[in-house]
Amino acid sequence: MKIAFIGSGYVGLVSATCLAEIGHEVISVDNDHEKIATLERGGVPIHEHLLGQLINRHHGKRLHFSTDVRDSVRKSDAVFITVGTPQSETGEADLSFVEAVASRIASAIDRKKLIVEKSTVPVRTCDSLRKTLVLNGAPRDSFSVASNPEFLREGTAVTDFLYPDRIVAGADDEFSVSALQEIYAPLTSGDYYSLKDRVPGPSNWPGKAQMILTNAKSAELIKHASNSFLAMKISFINAVSRISEAVGADISEVCAGIGSDNRIGPKFLNAGIGYGGSCFPKDISAFHAVASQYGYDFSLLSEVMRINEEQRSQFLCKVRSAVWTLRGKRLGVLGLAFKGGTEDVRESPAIAIVKALVKEGAQVHAYDPVASSKAAAQFTDPSVSYEAMSPYEVAEGSDALLILTEWKEFADLDLSRIRKLLKYPIFVDGRNLYSPKQVTDAGLVYYSIGRPPALPKEIDSPIEAGRELSDSVTFVPSAGRKTPAIEQSA
Ligand code: UDX
Repeated sequence: MKIAFIGSGYVGLVSATCLAEIGHEVISVDNDHEKIATLERGGVPIHEHLLGQLINRHHGKRLHFSTDVRDSVRKSDAVFITVGTPQSETGEADLSFVEAVASRIASAIDRKKLIVEKSTVPVRTCDSLRKTLVLNGAPRDSFSVASNPEFLREGTAVTDFLYPDRIVAGADDEFSVSALQEIYAPLTSGDYYSLKDRVPGPSNWPGKAQMILTNAKSAELIKHASNSFLAMKISFINAVSRISEAVGADISEVCAGIGSDNRIGPKFLNAGIGYGGSCFPKDISAFHAVASQYGYDFSLLSEVMRINEEQRSQFLCKVRSAVWTLRGKRLGVLGLAFKGGTEDVRESPAIAIVKALVKEGAQVHAYDPVASSKAAAQFTDPSVSYEAMSPYEVAEGSDALLILTEWKEFADLDLSRIRKLLKYPIFVDGRNLYSPKQVTDAGLVYYSIGRPPALPKEIDSPIEAGRELSDSVTFVPSAGRKTPAIEQSA
């Protein structure tokens, strides 16, 4: 089928490329001329595993790029809307880009087409889309509108698309149903998975993708409710982590115990510094706003958001209790992206924490495998340096090392080396990437989430480590290093 994607951001570009991969003729459209020029030159504007390879495979054959909405719509049988739906000041989704695109599509429609909303939108947006298309001159019988929400996670978006848990197709008429079935047929029939050069998928893949066929409003609700449920799972475990820490339990073991119940499952139960990213914060707030519009106070979601915010301030308290005062301290920070495997720093809890540390007078030396330049573009301050090229570089001479993003490479550090490089043996892990034993065996004091602080054998209490909680004394320095006093804040 001939398909146009209006909006070549994260969702648009990944989806367009994957539909080309399964055999369709696709045009990925954007009004950002520079982005389209980059794509035309073979560049990939986002860091996403496998995306570059697939673009390279199909560019100029089944995958094309354009800035011309009218021409692309005219050439296509189906048009996906994949523009941004940012959060407005009141917490609702701002649908102005969707509306603007709909009016441009309306003026270009020359024969019957399927218009698919794939951007995350509030329930009943399909109705508004239909009205906008008609108001802008599209004859009523010249289009069908359907909802086909995406469930792509950054970092694994390509395999998420090609090996989905489910494809949600929200269609209100026969034309939409058969067009959506045709688009996804290579996945639902299993044909794609028998190709030799397919993108490899999970080992337990059942062989065919499942399509959930429903009406447009239900599809729209599925998207917001799914993201809200996942965010609720994270806030729930973060709330449990507070109790776990207070009573001296181990949240990782609590999670393993909860998650092994089939009805709950182990995913999205990692306690940490809270969720971030371009979807969860915006979508949970938008879903809350939609509920209010329809007369329901979804206070459960208010609590999910509150716990998420609190988790960051709790982490700051933890850092303060580890290093006492922050003014003048040099802190090594590992991770700036909102999660591991991506360069995206939008709504990153790591950046929020870096900002708060700097506000309290700390000097931050940060390292992220890919997100440093994006972080620097979002937050510049003379107290933050993004220049380090490795975790060991930020550890060197720091008063403490903080893990803020769950990058795989941060879970595999040479802790003895870190111990030697740090000025004081303080390791604050906001993502629970280590077991307390691993860290304390290397001679580091370990602060993590939902577990009490853990001390190395040779240190029975933080006071023995050289630090007095009521006065300025010293921390035992790394072997062979001079013993400096912790500076007092003014
Ligand atoms: C999310 C949804 O998963 C995806 O289906 C949707 O389409 C877009 O939003 P994404 O934003 O890429 O995807 O990130 P995700 O992997 O879901 O993680 C979101 C946030 O939750 C990250 O900040 C992550 O660090 C955090 N998280 C995730 C936890 O704190 N604990 C967990 O157990 C899982």
